[in-house]
Amino acid sequence: MSLSKRLSLIGGMVEPGSRVCDVGTDHGYLPAFLYKSGRCASVCATDIREKPLLSARKNLAAAGADGVELYLCDGLEKITRDMADTVIIAGMGGEVISGIIERASFLRDTGVTLILQPTTSADKLRVFLAENGFCVLCEKAVEENGILYSVMRCAFCGMAYRADGARKYIGLIKPDCDEGRAYIGKQYAIIKKRADELKNTGKNAFRLKEDLTVLSELEKLLGEGEKNGV
Ligand SMILES: C[S@@+](CC[C@H](N)C(=O)[O-])C[C@H]1O[C@@H](n2cnc3c(N)ncnc32)[C@H](O)[C@@H]1O
Repeated sequence: MSLSKRLSLIGGMVEPGSRVCDVGTDHGYLPAFLYKSGRCASVCATDIREKPLLSARKNLAAAGADGVELYLCDGLEKITRDMADTVIIAGMGGEVISGIIERASFLRDTGVTLILQPTTSADKLRVFLAENGFCVLCEKAVEENGILYSVMRCAFCGMAYRADGARKYIGLIKPDCDEGRAYIGKQYAIIKKRADELKNTGKNAFRLKEDLTVLSELEKLLGEGEKNGV
């Protein structure tokens, strides 16, 4: 079975031998793929609503992935540390993802990996992760249906840090491929529009100063990408 580019990138971040839980699975395509790949020690999935779980059950059966356990619950409410060492939370807003992480204390245990793909508010998720001591180990951009997403692999490192400046808007994404460059370019355009509005209204000088600093960091990054022929 084949996955979309976005789900493939997420699936590719799962280490062989992992015990995976896909939170908010909906259609169940990712757990079906991971189970059938034989790369994982176990695969389970949750969803807060019954309807998506019914469609996941149907798709899992059609794919011959009946060994995937499904749970109807909010986030990781019914999942314990021995059931999962790799937790995927994809296709939800950054604030919803932060809430799910906050409520599941086992995600702070040693050896637990998080693979996150926010649909909106990626900047807020990066700030939440930094303030709560989760390190981002790897982050890539991917495009699906004309929309650019960030996919990040994280683990609890126990030390809070600041996700400010350009880090808040692009995380670890680099201008070393078309999608990375497009993601940074998109963030640049959003911040530029906001900064232009602030300039026109003369309001919030502090915000404007911060935005101008981020814009010059992003310009430098994009310029470097160009120099390296990307
Ligand atoms: C847009 S779908 C994403 C499906 C899949 N993860 C993907 O990335 O393609 C979001 C799913 O998350 C589920 N969901 C939203 N909030 C949730 C929560 N707190 N706990 C579990 N599932 C949740 C929704 O019911 C929905 O099925």
